[in-house]
Amino acid sequence: MSDSMSADVTFRSRRWVRPEDLNAHGTLFGGSLLRWIDEEAAIYAIIQLGNSRAVTKYISEIDFVSSARQGDLIEMGLRATAFGRTSLTMRAEVRNMITRERILTIEKIVFVGLDDHGQPIPHGYTDITYERDRLPHHHGLMRTEDRSTADQVLAGSNREADTGCDHLQ
Ligand SMILES: CC(C)(COP(=O)(O)OP(=O)(O)OC[C@H]1O[C@@H](n2cnc3c(N)ncnc32)[C@H](O)[C@@H]1OP(=O)(O)O)[C@@H](O)C(=O)NCCC(=O)NCCS
Repeated sequence: MSDSMSADVTFRSRRWVRPEDLNAHGTLFGGSLLRWIDEEAAIYAIIQLGNSRAVTKYISEIDFVSSARQGDLIEMGLRATAFGRTSLTMRAEVRNMITRERILTIEKIVFVGLDDHGQPIPHGYTDITYERDRLPHHHGLMRTEDRSTADQVLAGSNREADTGCDHLQ
């Protein structure tokens, strides 16, 4: 088993496995990990599609091939694999940085960008941005609930700065 993340990952983050993330067996609870992946994929989709209203549409088969214990460090990697008309497809990979084992790979995570009425809206992008040039910046026009989404994106950026994580490479 290779001991590092695939070279084609373009968005990555790390988590520390804490007591509240464990199952009854004392290993990482799958639901916690899926929540983290979905959140990271949402942030990445918002950055790539330039739309705060990016929602999870589809997640392909998930095979947990190894796990993690309290105190382990988890590394999650994402890469955009296809830009559709209104959607973005990503591939996810999660590794245990301590055991160096792969925990899972998800071949397809699809997010769709929505308009004000909850309908899919064309994003117009065809390739990956490595900058933050598409981040929504129309704060003043947003509804309160959208503002909180944008704030989470900014908090994600701050977390990156705080922890030194290289989300965007
Ligand atoms: C997202 C939603 C508005 C899309 O509605 P829809 O009727 O499927 O819309 P469309 O058929 O126009 O498809 C929109 C895009 O999703 C893609 N898509 C639809 N079903 C898909 C599936 N099963 N797998 C992969 N992609 C799919 C389409 O290919 C299309 O992409 P494209 O425009 O890039 O070609 C609707 O399904 C929805 O609201 N789902 C709930 C989303 C949500 O709340 N997620 C959070 C978890 S509860």
